[in-house]
Amino acid sequence: MQASGQSAPAATAPIDMLDLEAPRTAHRLRGLTHSGEELSLDWDDGRISRFHVLWLRDNCACPRCRHPQALERTYTFIDHGLPVIRAARAAGDAGVEIEFAVGDEIHRACFDLGWLRRHCNSEAVRAERARAPRLWDATEIRGLPVIDFDAYMNTDQGFRAWLEALRTWGIVLLRNIPAEPGRLLEVAHRVGPIRNTNFGECYDVISMPNPNASAYTAMGLELHTDLANWRFPPDYQLLYCVKNSVTGGESVLVDGYRVAEDLRHDDPHAFELLSTHALDFRFHDDACDIRASGPTIELDARGAIVRIRFNNWLRATMQVPQEHVAPLYGALGTFWHRLRQARYRLDLRLEPGNLITYYNHRILHGRMPFDPGSGERHLQGCYVHLEDAESRLQLLDRPAS
Ligand code: OGA
Ligand code: ZN
Ligand code: ZN
Repeated sequence: MQASGQSAPAATAPIDMLDLEAPRTAHRLRGLTHSGEELSLDWDDGRISRFHVLWLRDNCACPRCRHPQALERTYTFIDHGLPVIRAARAAGDAGVEIEFAVGDEIHRACFDLGWLRRHCNSEAVRAERARAPRLWDATEIRGLPVIDFDAYMNTDQGFRAWLEALRTWGIVLLRNIPAEPGRLLEVAHRVGPIRNTNFGECYDVISMPNPNASAYTAMGLELHTDLANWRFPPDYQLLYCVKNSVTGGESVLVDGYRVAEDLRHDDPHAFELLSTHALDFRFHDDACDIRASGPTIELDARGAIVRIRFNNWLRATMQVPQEHVAPLYGALGTFWHRLRQARYRLDLRLEPGNLITYYNHRILHGRMPFDPGSGERHLQGCYVHLEDAESRLQLLDRPAS
């Protein structure tokens, strides 16, 4: 490592990472060292941030490396040789100036201090960035997050609370919406465009003659995730209650991640079967025949649960090697029994003007049967995208300019 402050380059680029984020940090540098390959920052709280030369060069935000208006990267690292750090210097509170060299070709960059603090790949920073969902059982969700429609529609604070509840708990209740058909569209549009499906942008959940789906009956609905017969089932479901004067029809909600994590712990073999074997799903009516398959418990490359796909009435005939049939039914049954356990269940009666939203890859929903002769029950549903919800949160975090 070379000592700090050697052969300081002149600052040529503005100290602006063009990320439209608030880059400020209260932390100061105690010291800075570098080799040709790596920059190392020593912060006043003892944290050390290390940055690889290519990583730094690739993230240069000067107008030659990112488009100045679109703010997107224009620098193509494969078209340049591997650079070395020839000099690096702390430029007061503002940032760190770096001189990169590829042979005789020099490129000078200035990195914002707050940006460096937030983007280093240390375990501490990666942990700060990770947003682990808060898994719940019936006891832990007793205080279901509830937001008022007016606060949601008209204040940043209410909207943010709703978005954060979804991110953390996977479910949130809005109340005091005027109980008129269509009002859920206002709620959806505050997030973004509606995800359309074969059921239409917005569908009425009522008991009807000649139903094309179990939801449009008065039957009870087993816990399920919606549209398991799509490769990419919708992210968030909004379910809005316009009328509900029937006997029965209560909603049941369960945190599928929680149940699956418990299964992983208690019955690793069943968990393994459900996460490695895809099942087939299908919806068909006069107008469509839509099929997809996927595992009951889908994991990412690190083994974290990313999607539950569970829907008994959409599950297609199992067509797997004969020796897998009995083990798969066994594992599916084990998971299903668990899903039904009272300790996981949030029971809720939707009242007119209530709207629940939940993450469809995580929260399973169902309903108790109802007596259609005892009154009226009218729900409306639609779906929105995760990316739009997350984008709203990013925008709310953006500093006012
Ligand atoms: C649905 C559904 C539940 C209900 O429409 O996807 O599951 O309470 N409805 O009617
Ligand atoms: Zn640059
Ligand atoms: Zn459903």
